[in-house]
Amino acid sequence: MQSTFNTYKEAPSNIAIVKYWGKKDIQKPLNPSISFTLSQAVTKTKLEYFEGDKDLSLDFLFEGQNKGSFIPKLKTFISNIKHLLPFLNQGHLRIDSSNTFPHSSGIASSASSMASLAKGLVDIYEKLGHSHNNRNLLESEIARLGSGSACRSTQLGWTLWGSTPLLPNSSDQYGVLINDTIDPLFNSLQDSILVIRKGTKTVSSTLGHSLMNNHPYQQGRIRQANSNTEKLLKALNEGDFNSFAEICEEEALSLHGLMMSSSPGYTLMAPESLKAINRIKRFRDDQNIPITYTLDAGPNIHIIYPKEQSELVVPFIEENLLELCEDNTVLYDQISMPTTNI
Ligand code: DP6
Repeated sequence: MQSTFNTYKEAPSNIAIVKYWGKKDIQKPLNPSISFTLSQAVTKTKLEYFEGDKDLSLDFLFEGQNKGSFIPKLKTFISNIKHLLPFLNQGHLRIDSSNTFPHSSGIASSASSMASLAKGLVDIYEKLGHSHNNRNLLESEIARLGSGSACRSTQLGWTLWGSTPLLPNSSDQYGVLINDTIDPLFNSLQDSILVIRKGTKTVSSTLGHSLMNNHPYQQGRIRQANSNTEKLLKALNEGDFNSFAEICEEEALSLHGLMMSSSPGYTLMAPESLKAINRIKRFRDDQNIPITYTLDAGPNIHIIYPKEQSELVVPFIEENLLELCEDNTVLYDQISMPTTNI
């Protein structure tokens, strides 16, 4: 008899401090990257799998609405993971996904959505009676094949993705948790996101990555990211916020510098992004407190600081930065660690 299998999984978004920028082979990174997962920005995915003899068919719903436009992307993803989850050759799969954060908030959802989908698919694989060597690594590898940064969202906390001699168990195939090497200072980080622009970005990350293939600074970027990985691991381990901040900002500005010096070049920062950066730096100089910022591939600014600085930082944001944000939107998020219980 043919049966039905259900599951429900959640996964958070993540913010990279050392950035993944540029790919090789099938969704493998040109350089190692390090990120932490967030608490509030989460994707929830319900899966139903109906066994069957015919080629796999798919339904995809986002926030309750049928999204046929996503099906071609999903099909490519599924053809890339069939060798890991052969049950996806046949039957019918219904995916029903929703985000805890607004779609038009300028927050990328590919990491959280692909990570929650990967976790659900591995769960169904187990329910079908299959076993594997390591669930965490399999989930991360499958998420990576959907969206590179998603492989850093299948487990909570700090993850390193990309092979580096600094960490013997690191791999280009999946992310590995590095929580046990982190000083407690970095377990309570706040990420207050200035939503400078809400809309989707004009140049996708996938296109941005491809422009690294013939980039004049490609080799320099790979050297810089490897060196920043080494420095960041040390800073995280020693609880050294000043070094952390230096790496964080160098990575954010380099990412945008690489976009500007691509061929064709492009800019994703907005005038308000630069104003916000200058105000954050001035505030740091005046107050002499640990605070830094980073950007993803977009204009929004992630302000990062230890929790105990919230009393000073939140009023600073409300009084000085809110006016730079679209519809005065700031998302107050924080790191999610394994005990946070997502
Ligand atoms: C700037 O993971 O979104 O956020 O692998 O093509 O899906 P694809 O790209 P994606 O790239 C994220 C790039 C980044 C930096 C990072 O998260 O490391």
